[in-house]
Amino acid sequence: MNLTQANPPNVTTAAASHRQSQTTSASEHELTRNEVLALRKEYVAPAVFMYYKEPINLVRGHMQYLYDETGKQYLDAIGGIVTVSVGHCHPEVIAKTKAQIDKLQHATTIYLHPAMPLLAKKLAEKMPHPDLKVSFFTNSGSETNDLAMTMARLFTGNLDILTVRNGYHGASLATMSAVGHSTWRFPIPTTGNLHHIAPGYCYRCPFNLKYPECNVQCARDAENVIRYSTSGKIAALIAEPIQGVGGTVTPPPEYYKILYDIVKKYGGLYISDEVQTGFGRTGEHYWGISNWGVTPDAITMAKGLGNGVPISAVTTRREIAEVMSRKIWFNTFGGNPVSMTQGLATLEVIDKEGTQANSQKVGNYLKEKLTGLMDKHRLIGEVRGLGLMLGVELVKDRNTKEPASTEAADVLERAKNLGLLIGKGGFFGNVLRIKPPMCINIGDADFIVDTLDKVLGEIESGKA
Ligand SMILES: Cc1ncc(COP(=O)(O)O)c(C=O)c1O
Repeated sequence: MNLTQANPPNVTTAAASHRQSQTTSASEHELTRNEVLALRKEYVAPAVFMYYKEPINLVRGHMQYLYDETGKQYLDAIGGIVTVSVGHCHPEVIAKTKAQIDKLQHATTIYLHPAMPLLAKKLAEKMPHPDLKVSFFTNSGSETNDLAMTMARLFTGNLDILTVRNGYHGASLATMSAVGHSTWRFPIPTTGNLHHIAPGYCYRCPFNLKYPECNVQCARDAENVIRYSTSGKIAALIAEPIQGVGGTVTPPPEYYKILYDIVKKYGGLYISDEVQTGFGRTGEHYWGISNWGVTPDAITMAKGLGNGVPISAVTTRREIAEVMSRKIWFNTFGGNPVSMTQGLATLEVIDKEGTQANSQKVGNYLKEKLTGLMDKHRLIGEVRGLGLMLGVELVKDRNTKEPASTEAADVLERAKNLGLLIGKGGFFGNVLRIKPPMCINIGDADFIVDTLDKVLGEIESGKA
């Protein structure tokens, strides 16, 4: 697959021939958008939210592109929420997965099957330290973070866990308790002994200080949290190297190193939640945490590991993993042959196609171009992130930094109409999130910049 391919396939023709090939089956593609929407409204729980006033009905994906039922092409610059790492329906990945489905779909881990240990071996080879060697497999980011926190508590014998304000770790009870955003937390009893520390969010400094004179107070304050809010010993810190849902919050370079030293001083493990930042997305390094010079005790991952199948994992040191042998640990679909095969195929493609290098090259180019838009568009307060994990924080006023939340929603709508799908995040919903499949090319990056340039201009000039 050529990563620099400039011209997307002819969409209308591709979608039309695809539709033709589907006409004899009773597939969901035969339902119109409105029928799908009506079914969804009647039978799917209302909390399962959708983007856009007029949600789009997707029928096909190819690499960095998605197609709706009319054949309209979209550049997917959010990758199914940072999940499609090497491209939608990547031919090589799909071929291996299809072959596996034909042979064996499910077995559970009580029998031998090569796919799980092969993927575990591949992960071990990719770890930032040889001691991070053994893996557990689960099905979602929430599950793997739950497991990592459980292991940390059992291994250290301590209960208290630090987590970062403005972070996101999942929707299970334990991970919701770790989430540092009221937006995602329901008023139910959370699991106790989770303590939120200050984020490394220079643009909105929690201490109202300026970097570097601040001496990275946001990180150093974690020691006070341990001293005053915990038993004085901790089990772990769980943190994202760059906060994804929180709006691509990228800390100052020393932030995590300072936290690491504090975590070690108080007996904890460092768990790096790489659900969004793993697999070369941040460009220079395979794991996001390596950008900050920290070697964690455990890495949790999901999303991009499977390029679209439900899969997650935690890789750690053998002596840490051994704590789960004290009782019986079992996960029905963790280690499923199909998801393991797709995970392995995805990681092989990342190596083979130079996907990480592409993330760095296209990501740097895109960041520079987006930063350049600041000269033209007063709505842009900050452009941040690394590789192909970028965020554009929109503000009504650069001095007051009042979040431009409705404007951000408007950008998403208008960009969609022009064929560009992006995400949004941040506590105020005012950060544009750009995290495409890592196979995008320079032409796609230009399309993202030109589209945002146009829609920001329209919004700033009050054009309906
Ligand atoms: C950093 C991070 N951790 C964990 C999760 C939870 O993953 P899942 O939705 O697969 O449970 C997410 C989901 O967005 C995430 O971004």
